[in-house]
Amino acid sequence: MSLDTLIITDVAPRDGLQNQQIPVSTSAKLRLIQLLHEAGVTSIEATSFVSPKAVPQMADATELMGEINRHLPHLRASALIPNRKGLERAHAAGAREVAVVLSATQTMNQKNINMDLVTATKICEETLHAAQALGLRTRAYVAVAFDCPFEGPTNLDTVVALAERMHQAGAEEIVIADTIGSASPGMVKNHFERLASVLPIKKLAAHFHDTRGMATANAWAAIQAGVRRFDASAGGIGGCPFAPGAAGNAATEDLVLMAERSGLTTDISLPGLLKAVDYAESQLGRTLGGRSIAWLRRQYAADKTAS
Ligand code: HMG
Ligand code: MG
Repeated sequence: MSLDTLIITDVAPRDGLQNQQIPVSTSAKLRLIQLLHEAGVTSIEATSFVSPKAVPQMADATELMGEINRHLPHLRASALIPNRKGLERAHAAGAREVAVVLSATQTMNQKNINMDLVTATKICEETLHAAQALGLRTRAYVAVAFDCPFEGPTNLDTVVALAERMHQAGAEEIVIADTIGSASPGMVKNHFERLASVLPIKKLAAHFHDTRGMATANAWAAIQAGVRRFDASAGGIGGCPFAPGAAGNAATEDLVLMAERSGLTTDISLPGLLKAVDYAESQLGRTLGGRSIAWLRRQYAADKTAS
């Protein structure tokens, strides 16, 4: 990875769809993933192996992973897992990459995965070890890394300590997540500078939600701190059902445009991404898109007319 390249994991099929009230069919999820892949996205968080009672939209995880392996065998398709049962299901379905989810506060872990912080940390460590023993690639989220919707501002020492625990447990990527989109660039700079003082910066990724319209500015602050791995969601869809007040993720199109205009590459095509956003809109029956979507649509419509 060159320092001028951003690696973007598109989380639209998982984070983006998990909170949608309209059920999306497995074939439509696969089509969205195919369009993202055609746009040049090489890493996608495709689904989650969680309780179907907790998140009904993800109940087809096994079927979807099978379809991905059949149609897109070379795609880096990840699955979120909350526990060992999730790992077993993901492995049986043919997943090659999994992500555990640890929150940095007691209450958020309880609400999200029904475990206290100490238990959740242990379960994440055990699950990471078990996943590696199965030969799977691993990521670990540290959620509510800036603010918790239940407990307020998160202690940075706790975030750093949990990120270190996940690193020691072998996570290949530690994803620092602003679950409710409350961070600002100064906070992001401070967090990543502290994290980078104890962990290799190449292993850190940033996952921003855009509740307060700061996700792109936050991504820029993370880039300045040396981060090159980002989660983002085509069309900006997303949000954790168990974190009140969480809005959509940083939109992939916003990050790609920012990168292109700032001398960084992503190898993702903006017109290709627009096709994926249009498709997601057709499935969800509403207008989607990040802060740049109106301009991007005008721009590429004008390009089409001119050619
Ligand atoms: P629980 O009720 O405490 O679990 O839920 P349990 O162990 O007592 O089991 C209850 C039932 O669930 C049992 O079935 C288990 O077999 C089943 P029953 O006997 O009732 O038929 N079960 C499972 N089924 C399928 N897959 C599994 C699984 N595990 C147990 N893996 C549990 C605990 C963790 C399962 C539940 O709370 C859960 O599924 N939570 C999912 C939460 C979730 O998906 N949250 C959204 C993703 S996190 C996020 O969005 C944040 C992120 O984007 C970063 C950020 O922005 O901050 C990543
Ligand atoms: Mg999220």
